[in-house]
Amino acid sequence: MRTVVCPGSFDPFTFGHLDVVRRARGLSDRVIVAVAQNASKRTLFSVEERVEFARATIANAHLTSVEVQQVPGLLAEFCESVGAEHIVKGLRNGADLDSELPMALMNRALSGVETLFVLGDPQLSHVASSLVKDVARHGGEIHGMVDPVIVKEIQRALESEDK
Ligand code: PNS
Repeated sequence: MRTVVCPGSFDPFTFGHLDVVRRARGLSDRVIVAVAQNASKRTLFSVEERVEFARATIANAHLTSVEVQQVPGLLAEFCESVGAEHIVKGLRNGADLDSELPMALMNRALSGVETLFVLGDPQLSHVASSLVKDVARHGGEIHGMVDPVIVKEIQRALESEDK
């Protein structure tokens, strides 16, 4: 059974992430969506919430053989512990490659795990978690970018952030 890991901070999980998970599923038998902490990002949602939102989005999309787990420490160690053959990440543009390259090389140096890159759907290339939150913060429309469950949760979290 070929297992791949799709890691990210997923703050929150978007339809762009879902597209990458679908592509990763097409390349493997089992996908583990690995919700991790990015040391350079402060998240709006707790890791438990980010796991819950990824699970809800995947369940509503009826994807099979995809599970969501929290990464307790290093991603490279997590990949070894679950027997993953590869990490799969999506690229939208050159800036994504610039930020992904050092991480892919570091993960390979740490545990030998290779990262495979897939190109996301161009129709979703504007969808980034940070931009979705910013649009929502200014009252913009984010339906079609994240699962409806998450639309409500973003609005709720931003309201309590303002207080
Ligand atoms: O969605 P992101 O923020 O680009 O994902 C980055 C993430 C969370 C996958 C990365 O920061 C990570 O792997 N964090 C876990 C800790 C770790 O292994 N750090 C070394 C990364 S080379």
